[in-house]
Amino acid sequence: MKKSFGLLACVTLLAISSQVSANTEEEIGAKIYERAFGRGCGSCHDVASNPQLSALIKAGKLPKEQFAKVIKEGRNGMPKASAAIMEVGPVKKAGYTEDQAIDAVYEYLKK
Ligand code: HEC
Repeated sequence: MKKSFGLLACVTLLAISSQVSANTEEEIGAKIYERAFGRGCGSCHDVASNPQLSALIKAGKLPKEQFAKVIKEGRNGMPKASAAIMEVGPVKKAGYTEDQAIDAVYEYLKK
């Protein structure tokens, strides 16, 4: 019983510390993708009929300038996302500017 409690405490600590240490650019980018708008970019973009951001970037079909422009201005069914991105906890914590936050999601999606 004691042993399993120790293990549980250890796992819990690990889980907490991995949340707190979301501090590399790529990790912050991942948090933006998961959390922006409360439900994440993936709530729309992981649906096959919407632009597949990661695949487009990897294929060289979505340059960063275009990525940033659509995020800042919105386009058709794509809502303006700057404010939502800046509200994500790890972005605030890192003190990122809007451009740094956009870079972070882009880098995350490029991997
Ligand atoms: C409500 C659904 C929705 C959410 C949430 C959403 N998007 Fe989109 N996004 C779309 C749709 C739909 C399009 C296609 C717009 C068009 O047809 O012009 C799009 C287009 C884009 C494009 C342009 C792709 C291209 O090929 O030009 C980018 C970049 C983008 N979204 C990034 C994001 C990011 C980053 C997030 C999260 C911060 C996000 N989107 C959240 C629906 C969404």
